[in-house]
Amino acid sequence: MNRRKFMLAGAALGVAGYLFKPNDKGMPYNDYFTKVNQQLKRSGPYLPSMLVDLDLVDDNIAALSQVMNPNVDLRIVAKSVPSPELLGYLMDKANTNKLMVFHQPFLSHIALAYPKSDVLMGKPMPVQAAKVFYQNLNDQNQFDPKTQLQWLIDSEERLKQYLALAQSLDQHFKINIELDVGLHRGGLQQGDELDTLITLIENNDQFLSFSGFMGYDPHIVKIPSMVKSAEQAYQESQAIYKSFIDRLYTLNSHYKEQQLCFNGAGSPSLIMHKNNTLANELSAGSCFVKPVDFDLPSLSAFKPAAFIATPVLKKMKGTLLPAIEFAQNIFPLWDPNMQQTYFIYGGKWLAQYESPQGLQGNGLFGTSTNQEIVNSSKKVNLEVDDHIFLRPTQSEFVFLQFGSLITLRNQQMDSQWPILKQG
Ligand SMILES: Cc1ncc(COP(=O)(O)O)c(C=O)c1O
Repeated sequence: MNRRKFMLAGAALGVAGYLFKPNDKGMPYNDYFTKVNQQLKRSGPYLPSMLVDLDLVDDNIAALSQVMNPNVDLRIVAKSVPSPELLGYLMDKANTNKLMVFHQPFLSHIALAYPKSDVLMGKPMPVQAAKVFYQNLNDQNQFDPKTQLQWLIDSEERLKQYLALAQSLDQHFKINIELDVGLHRGGLQQGDELDTLITLIENNDQFLSFSGFMGYDPHIVKIPSMVKSAEQAYQESQAIYKSFIDRLYTLNSHYKEQQLCFNGAGSPSLIMHKNNTLANELSAGSCFVKPVDFDLPSLSAFKPAAFIATPVLKKMKGTLLPAIEFAQNIFPLWDPNMQQTYFIYGGKWLAQYESPQGLQGNGLFGTSTNQEIVNSSKKVNLEVDDHIFLRPTQSEFVFLQFGSLITLRNQQMDSQWPILKQG
């Protein structure tokens, strides 16, 4: 490269650098997180903690009435709020005893903690896991699976396994059938599959009874609108649901007189069911705490209510990285959001930085579950022992990484509620 080309390339790089230079995104805490940080510094555990703000949860319970069809029941999705106390709080405030459960150890726990609950399994459990549930039940347990629990079945093979289990235990199982209403995650797709299952159930009515359908449809609000409108996707999923109900009634009109459970929706698609739905109950869980993945137009009435708080352990000037120490003060010239480096207690959660604003990870240093690096501009004026706040992208797995959650009232720590154990 001759001198002229070199100069030109340098100038081009300079212009590109100027055009793409990051802005200073840093800001101090807002009022809310200033108060929560002060409170945690006064009486917090100085550990990575999962906070749930009950005032904001209350707002979300109120928001639910804006999107919920008033003629149907609510079933709370336990995996999305996996703390027995939080579940109890929501059941109480939202006035429902219906839960959707996805994990055998949670089912065993709920049967003990909430013996009056009505449970629908949200996924088809391997039959061996179902067997463990019955083995764990004891005589003192007031939960009666015969009337209070619906197992979810997605195929003839699984139904035969459950029949064999019911026979071996001399128990009666309520069977809810999963329908594929367009999500394609599982469930019946063809009407004749229903005929086979219903025949098997009716031929073994001392062990099995049909209790309803579950058709989960969150895809309807996620399909790009240029492919299909949410309304069109909803109508199509309802048409599939209806074809199975019609077929059921044709198979045996007795079902029309029975109190069956027609479960539908999830937080993202609740609103689509508001005016007209085939379902007689709708499921929701995540909307009560609204993690980042639920920042959807269909949930705009809801507020984030769960945050990870974790203390700052170390604070350094610039960005000092192994083997490129010379660049410590050069990085901030390019990106003002690298003027400061913090190391925090823990890290690498499925979560996004929430407060103070303008925190970012460092791809060159990498990530850590032990002490995560966080960069920011000087405007983020944190000190050691202040807290960084993150918003989980989803609640169901992230909550389980914490032993308990800390509830807040008026931005003050209120109680400590255990989180369900995974195993
Ligand atoms: C069968 C079923 N119903 C409902 C839900 C909705 O849960 P949430 O409201 O937490 O999105 C889920 C979530 O995975 C699900 O699998």
